[in-house]
Amino acid sequence: MLHDPNKVYVFDTTLRDGEQVPGCQLTTPEKIEIAKELETLGVDIIEAGFPISSPGDFQSVVELSKAVSQPIICALTRANKGDIDSAVAALQYAKRPRIHTGIGSSDMHIKHKFNSTREEILKRAVDAVKYAKQFVEDIEFYAEDAGRADINFLAQMVEAVIAAGATVVNIPDTNGYCLPDQYGQKIKFLKDNVQNIDQAIISVHCHNDLGLATANSIAGLQNGARQIEGTINGIGERAGNTSIEEVVMILKTHQYLGLHTNINTKNFYELSRMVSSQMRMPVQPNKAIVGSNAFAHSSGIHQDGFLKNRENYEIIRPEDVGFPDATIVLTARSGRHALKFHLERLGHNLSKEELADAYHRFLTIADRKLDINDEDLTMMMSEIYVK
Ligand code: KIV
Ligand code: ZN
Repeated sequence: MLHDPNKVYVFDTTLRDGEQVPGCQLTTPEKIEIAKELETLGVDIIEAGFPISSPGDFQSVVELSKAVSQPIICALTRANKGDIDSAVAALQYAKRPRIHTGIGSSDMHIKHKFNSTREEILKRAVDAVKYAKQFVEDIEFYAEDAGRADINFLAQMVEAVIAAGATVVNIPDTNGYCLPDQYGQKIKFLKDNVQNIDQAIISVHCHNDLGLATANSIAGLQNGARQIEGTINGIGERAGNTSIEEVVMILKTHQYLGLHTNINTKNFYELSRMVSSQMRMPVQPNKAIVGSNAFAHSSGIHQDGFLKNRENYEIIRPEDVGFPDATIVLTARSGRHALKFHLERLGHNLSKEELADAYHRFLTIADRKLDINDEDLTMMMSEIYVK
């Protein structure tokens, strides 16, 4: 298959890794609603679930496969026949099915999770890929805990599963352990040392335990990975997964990287709110790209600079991610320029002296009240005019 070398495939796992979060479980209709929005967003792959895990998850993969036509629909399995059979059955209606199978790759997992050896694990990995390949052409292999795996063993595993038929090799930093340069070097090592690496796409799947999921994913892309896995709002196990909106906007903002995605970024804000409300998981106000404060300017120095030229303090336009608009929040830290902006918006054009008087009153009110809204300003102006 020929791939555009600069295209980054976006693999969304909101409905699988994201949904593993306690309290975030969704019904099948809710998953379908989100999946349709993910399709509109333009993701290339939707990981719809882990069919063997429960009858409900199995059914969700069946229904999502029917409801969504553009993206590849992917189902997760462990490296065994039972899981793979279940995924094959759940994917029967998918127009473009993918099986995502895999096994632990670090000595920690090999010894303490599987009570096994590298040789045995390698065999199980290869057998799983060969087995799945009989039913589905598109096979993604995950080398769980690759972030802590011995690099030579990881390379051996990746080479073997590609030879067995894997089309995508996922190098998960399952525990969010790596630093960006370590993770980037891992991907580079695989690129440079795995003989058949060009027959597969390298995928990055990073967790956020040290707050580095986005940075690690970008490091992976800079070193040759071409698929990024993540979730909307970065939800996921423990501290979460890579936030898709962050990675996509980084690629858009830093065009010199020369990488692009299919994503319609204007849909981010609405989808973020939908995921947040359906999963009952609030978005932190200072969350990059989609947090309620992401485009709110509140200190006097920033407000003044922003009102002179937005680009002084705005590296992304709010409309590019579907955010309603930037806001100039009025607090006791705001300057005259911000007050003037809001008063003019409400129809009050004041002279310099009038503004000085209004600003003095405004500060007295703002010291009592945390932030000032239009009603407060209208009330303040009516008091000035009554005087
Ligand atoms: O974090 C991880 O390793 C995973 C795999 C199942 C892909 O979610
Ligand atoms: Zn994960």
